[in-house]
Amino acid sequence: GFTGQITLDGPSGTGKSSVARGVAARLGAAYLDTGAMYRAATVAVLDAGVGLDDEIAVARAVTGARIEVGTDAGTEVVRVDGVDVAERIRGAEVTRAVSPVSAVPAVRRHLVAQQRDLVAEADAVVVEGRDIGTVVLPDATLKIYLTAAPEVRAQRRAGQLGVTDPDKIAALAQDLRRRDEYDSSRADSPLRPAADAVVVDSTDLDQQGVVARIVELAASTV
Ligand code: C5P
Repeated sequence: GFTGQITLDGPSGTGKSSVARGVAARLGAAYLDTGAMYRAATVAVLDAGVGLDDEIAVARAVTGARIEVGTDAGTEVVRVDGVDVAERIRGAEVTRAVSPVSAVPAVRRHLVAQQRDLVAEADAVVVEGRDIGTVVLPDATLKIYLTAAPEVRAQRRAGQLGVTDPDKIAALAQDLRRRDEYDSSRADSPLRPAADAVVVDSTDLDQQGVVARIVELAASTV
């Protein structure tokens, strides 16, 4: 079977999480959602009540918090200082604040170190995020960069959230664009494909098609 590390990077709303979970299940690999770690870190910052532009206070709030991300019997577990925040991290408040928190270099250093420790425990692992192939695991076995047309991404996000109102879908599209611009233009670890990443465009592929393609690529590394 497959052993090694598969990195899955790309902008929001490409179906990265479902694809990463699907690939991990097919390969019997562990799965790490680094976006959940940045979201949990954002909960710590919001609860500390510090300004998002106060980088020192933001970094202190994150490094002082105990952040746990994993799965237990198939359900996502996300805790900050022992408190379950799995639902809260998907809410609008956290989603709005996560990009500025993630842009702080000391926050990234802290979480990247944790990510490398978690990955080192597994023989086979799929790691999802923005900078996994470029920064966190530059020597990964297989690097995937997942893209999709912006309209398709907004539609998929709306589907996940059960949103049907066109105005609300337009607002989601705007939200995705704003977050991607922020993530792509930050100085530390911007969102971009690694030079050796395979770019997979999921605009015209369903989730199973994308999973199958990545499993096929993984098989060719064995
Ligand atoms: O993937 P998800 O939408 O949960 O990620 C939330 C945010 O966390 C991203 O918009 C980005 O700002 C940040 N992030 C990051 N680096 C990662 C994963 C996520 O900066 N490796």
